[in-house]
This record gives sequence, C-alpha cells and structure tokens, in this order.
Amino acid sequence: MKAMKKHSYKLILLGIIEAAVILLIAYHQNSEASVIHPTAITFNNDTLKKESLKILETKCNSCHRKQNPFMVFKGKNMSKKAAKIYTQVFVKQRMPKGDEIKLTSKEYATLKKWLNTENIY
Ligand code: HEC
Repeated sequence: MKAMKKHSYKLILLGIIEAAVILLIAYHQNSEASVIHPTAITFNNDTLKKESLKILETKCNSCHRKQNPFMVFKGKNMSKKAAKIYTQVFVKQRMPKGDEIKLTSKEYATLKKWLNTENIY
C-alpha cells in the first residue's frame, strides 16, 4: 500500500511537470504571435499603397492624363514619384491643381501615411 502511494505521488509530480511544460510552450507560442510579424507590416503597407493609388487615380490622373501625361500615376511608378508627390501636395500645396478637385482630410492622411513608408525624407 505504501509503495503504491509513493508511485502515485511520482505520477502526480510528473503530471504537474508535464502540464507546466505544455503551458510554457503555449505561452511562448502566444507571445510570438502577439509580436507584429514583418509580413504583417508589408501587408499593411501594401494596403496603404493600394489605397493611395486609388486616390492618385481618381483625383490626380483624371487631370494628368490630359494635362500632364508624363505624370500619370500607376502602381509601378508611384514609389519613384513619391518625393514629387510629397513636394507638390504637402510642401508647395500646388496639387491637386485648381479648385474643382479637392482631397478629403482622410485622403490627405492616407497619402501621408503611405509617403511615410517610402524613403523620401
Ligand atoms: C486639374 C488638373 C490637375 C490635378 C487635379 C492634379 N494635377 Fe498635378 N499637375 C497638373 C499639371 C497641369 C501639371 C504640370 C504643370 C505644373 O507643374 O503645374 C502637374 C504636375 C504635377 C507634378 C509634377 C510637378 C513637378 O514639376 O515636379 C506632380 C508631382 C503632381 N502634379 C502631382 C499631383 C497629385 C499627387 C495630384 C492629386 C492629388 C495632382 N497632381 C492633381 C495638373 C493637375
């Protein structure tokens, strides 16, 4: 009877250790998941770029296509033109040109956030 008791203590102890190891592993996996993964950031920047392209297409290209065909913005060239866009929209505030086309404050914010991801400053 005594031997049986000793044996079950050992089993219980082993069980506790095992549970602790499982909890530690689970905690570790969880803490890794809560760290923002680099691919998540890329995805976010991708979305920002897409949103900005939509703005450039609707608010800028509509005019540029006719009046400034060398500055028609596309997904492929918008990063290269980012510094110019920044200068015209945020520094000199010449664009969007004229009184008809305006950017909403949300569109300004989106463009600014996207420009912050480009290496232009
Ligand atoms: C109503 C017409 C019109 C709209 C709308 C417009 N542009 Fe322009 N943009 C022009 C014209 C015309 C030029 C070329 C002459 C000049 O620079 O004024 C130009 C030139 C530019 C240039 C080049 C400036 C340089 O010489 O470096 C950039 C960059 C630019 N626009 C960005 C934008 C962006 C970004 C938007 C949208 C948010 C926009 N434009 C909206 C007419 C427009």
